[in-house]
Amino acid sequence: MPNVDTPLIEKARLLRKELNELGYRYYVLDDPIVPDAEYDRLYRQLQQLESEHSDLITVDSPTQRVGGEPLGQFDSVTHRVPMLSLGNAFNDDEVDAFDLRLKNRLEIKESITYICEPKLDGLAVSLLYENGVLVQAATRGDGATGENITQNVKTIGSIPMQLRGESFPALIEIRGEIFMPLDGFNAFNEQARRKDEKVLVNPRNGAAGSLRQLDSKVTKTRPLDMYCYGLGYLDDEEWRFTSHSEVLKQLGDWGFKVNPEIRLCSTVDEITAFHQHLIQVRGSLNYDIDGLVIKVDDLALQQRLGFVAKAPRWAIAYKFPAQEEITRLLGVEFQVGRTGAVTPVARLEPVFVGGVTVSNATLHNMDEIERMDVRPGDTVVVYRAGDVIPKIVRVVKERRPEGAQKVVRPTECPVCGSGIVQAEGEVLARCGAGLSCQAQVKEAIKHFASRKAMDIDGLGDKLVEQLVDAGLVSSVADLYTLALEPIAALDRMAEKSAGNLLKALEVSKATQLGKFIFSLGIREVGETTAQSLSDHFCALGPLKDADLDELQKVDDVGPVVAAYVEKFFRQEHNLDVIDGLVSAGVHWPHVEKPESDVVLPLAGQTYVITGSFSNRGRDEMKQALVLLGAKVSGSVSKKTHAVIVGDSPGSKLAKAEKLDIKVMNEADFEKLIG
Ligand code: IVH
Repeated sequence: MPNVDTPLIEKARLLRKELNELGYRYYVLDDPIVPDAEYDRLYRQLQQLESEHSDLITVDSPTQRVGGEPLGQFDSVTHRVPMLSLGNAFNDDEVDAFDLRLKNRLEIKESITYICEPKLDGLAVSLLYENGVLVQAATRGDGATGENITQNVKTIGSIPMQLRGESFPALIEIRGEIFMPLDGFNAFNEQARRKDEKVLVNPRNGAAGSLRQLDSKVTKTRPLDMYCYGLGYLDDEEWRFTSHSEVLKQLGDWGFKVNPEIRLCSTVDEITAFHQHLIQVRGSLNYDIDGLVIKVDDLALQQRLGFVAKAPRWAIAYKFPAQEEITRLLGVEFQVGRTGAVTPVARLEPVFVGGVTVSNATLHNMDEIERMDVRPGDTVVVYRAGDVIPKIVRVVKERRPEGAQKVVRPTECPVCGSGIVQAEGEVLARCGAGLSCQAQVKEAIKHFASRKAMDIDGLGDKLVEQLVDAGLVSSVADLYTLALEPIAALDRMAEKSAGNLLKALEVSKATQLGKFIFSLGIREVGETTAQSLSDHFCALGPLKDADLDELQKVDDVGPVVAAYVEKFFRQEHNLDVIDGLVSAGVHWPHVEKPESDVVLPLAGQTYVITGSFSNRGRDEMKQALVLLGAKVSGSVSKKTHAVIVGDSPGSKLAKAEKLDIKVMNEADFEKLIG
């Protein structure tokens, strides 16, 4: 019994309880109930009390999350139950074979219920709780022995120092994965870059390095989190579980974070569908995953299946296609975009990465090439995730062939040979020849024909290149003067396809002013800005004549965009093209200025949509909001009215919370659009 008054013991106990509860709401549920300042106040009270009466300090006190003296080394810990690894499956057939293997072994025909969980790319840890109090945390190590990292693990807010609830086993070991959330990883690296300090290579290394710190005060500054996924040692007759899902439920009740992306599946088809789903949502999760883990849900069946070598028979990891691979850089070519931007493209020895064969990757700009010092012949690491453009992330310098030459900065446009200019403050070099450069003409036409612009059915990139190369078209206006025969004479074209193109061109003439403005390809004028210009000016005439002041009155238009728009309409050849289009018959309905007394209900409000939703896709949600007068933006700022959050939101939710911006869920959204 501590050598202090009972009221003080009680006061300390209540403070601990309150702080643990507030911590749970903040770290585990992501749903704080009081401002940080209140937490800090209570924390200081407890700290004060404990410093006056050291007898009041308990191992599960929130103050004990802050480390003591740095360790000289980590002690080793022998796991009571070995920490195993998992076998892998890389495709549906292998999952099928796994399912069949288990049925044969169990001599059953009926389906097995599997529980599928994301396979987190972090570090496995073991947490030991004695009568509900965290007494030891250890790394997996070689599976039999790990390192004692208790002091470091205690700094992680989402890991309970004391289990919630009233009853716990005398001794229980809980297992799960510690990881570095992506928003925290990015913020950490941003700060490190600013201070010219070493950056973390990836979130997994970040988590590993953070847990390996001998000084837990360093660990405390690192953004770490944990999802629990199972039990290790448990020797208590009172506590028996029948299924893995029951275990996960109990872990949640005890105050652990359990991954919400978990599904029960009883056929391989269901597992495959879940695998696909995870690949889809992977990019919007705030943590890295590299597959899913399929586990037999029934613990009695697990027991019957047992283990083989170092892995259980009752579970398997169904891996995603690797997102990083190495290959050889064959060469660097420079491409010219619609606005003349000259960008380097890496030609690669084809490599299977992220589920597809990749032979080109972006290198962004010359500065990036120089920063990485990437040279043709180098072995490079290519990264491809989801639908994003593959990129080169690193050079394996150790494998550089002798005599590999640096990439030379181009001084001339690779297509038209004009001089390349690099404007002040811009990273991209540009060909200054504008529409007399064939590359820019082609890109301008591709943009003009694209779905969100004039939507010319059948006029794809290849055909545009052919039309320009054959000298049939040299500006977008020429498209409407095309005749059947010369088109039909092009490679892979015939009379029928040529006729279809002419029909599609005819159909495209009926358009909307906003789309027409967008299709002109004015720099920095995307779909939304083009629509704002249409709403404001209602006709092409006043837009052509507008000066910088008038242009800046338009929503979305600042000085930079205004300058581009004004410059565009002051250039004679642009006006000629517009005249050509209009005389060819391109037209749009008259735009009505919105009546000033009809104010749309959400006018003036900007929303951000993040995560995935069950009722509608994000595009549909965006449309609904825009129809009610709202604006939808891709990033959260102080001007954001509210953030609409679905499943697995990314860093936008965190940013909204930081800026104290209203957060709405799917039900709130449905109510809003009524
Ligand atoms: S179950 C015996 N569940 O994968 C069962 N492991 O290759 C083994 N991992 O070392 C663990 N997410 O670090 C399990 N939801 C999950 C997991 C998971 C990640 C890691 C874990 C383990 C490795 C096995």
